[in-house]
Amino acid sequence: MAILENFINQMEPWFDEKEEQAISEYLKSGGWVTEFKKTREFEKMIAEYTGAKYCSVVSNGTISLTLALIACGIGPGDEVIVPDYTMVASANAVKLAGAEVVFADINPDNLCLDFELMKKAVSPRTKAIMLVTINGRYPSNLEEFVSFCKEKEIKLIEDAAQSLGSFKNGKHLGTFGDIGSFSFSAPKVISTGQGGALITNDEILIERIQKLRDFGREKPGADRYLTMGWNFKFTDIQAIIGTEQMKKLPWRVQRKKDIYALYKKNLEGVAGISFIPTNLENTSPWFIDILVENGKREDLIEFLKNNQIGSRPFYPALHAEPVYNRSESHPVAQKIAAKGLWLPSSSKLTDEEIARVCDAIKDFFKQ
Ligand SMILES: Cc1ncc(COP(=O)(O)O)c(C=O)c1O
Repeated sequence: MAILENFINQMEPWFDEKEEQAISEYLKSGGWVTEFKKTREFEKMIAEYTGAKYCSVVSNGTISLTLALIACGIGPGDEVIVPDYTMVASANAVKLAGAEVVFADINPDNLCLDFELMKKAVSPRTKAIMLVTINGRYPSNLEEFVSFCKEKEIKLIEDAAQSLGSFKNGKHLGTFGDIGSFSFSAPKVISTGQGGALITNDEILIERIQKLRDFGREKPGADRYLTMGWNFKFTDIQAIIGTEQMKKLPWRVQRKKDIYALYKKNLEGVAGISFIPTNLENTSPWFIDILVENGKREDLIEFLKNNQIGSRPFYPALHAEPVYNRSESHPVAQKIAAKGLWLPSSSKLTDEEIARVCDAIKDFFKQ
């Protein structure tokens, strides 16, 4: 057996001397640390990169979804349709806004909301669809979601937390609906430790969001409270890290695509695993995901761990989790949740490390 090398984490944030230098210069310049010019600069970079008219950054990607809903006037008595397979924050943000979560199943080709099942879940109380473009993938008929929502006067919120760097026909994910939301938590394509962003082309919505995140103030620093609001602001320290991370984004997006392609090539023909359809021209996979067949996922996780390799099972189907505990059936979400596995996915993974992971997977299935 080969000598075990260092542990390969499933995911790691990646900062270097650029962030270190920028923070040091900022602190020496006497910056107040709280949000100011650097935060506005970071927002501008996100708006420019995504092609959105406006961007506002907030404390995290759960709060950005919550503020998106509140800004759209969604609250108690309203229903929001959420995919049964997503990170729990997509659903919990609906609860935080005071509305009810209605789960719908996903499409196995892209793991996003299934259009027909979403339509069936609509009721007179439906006020929004939470379209999660999970792992940078999107429904092939995304435009139909947009026109359906317009026609029914339902808001379309795009949870693009995992989609920074992913596009459909040149248009960034998160810019199709009324509001797009991103997260900059530690495992994301770029990270500011914690952080979230909202993007929109709607001037009224962005003004509401800016007030919601800043105590409902008329404008920053002016103590006249026009609407209800709280403190979900950012800090310039995070913005400095964020702007440096944004400069590296094009490289990271390409590297993510190359990493995915390399895994796929190395694991070609391995019986027992399969890949989810992925168009690398548009999608920049945040995590490298595979489906493990025949109930072997937990054994593979253990085998990889014993070989110093980290991996992580997919999120569970949310309806059945104790927090929601609903006796519903969403067969695709349940199947995907039971089979899905995230392999090491950091953009700083070397080709040699990827080969090591793939060799271990092949060894596992040879046993
Ligand atoms: C799809 C999705 N939505 C929302 C969130 C929540 O973001 P945050 O962790 O920044 O609150 C995440 C984060 O993992 C996510 O993956």
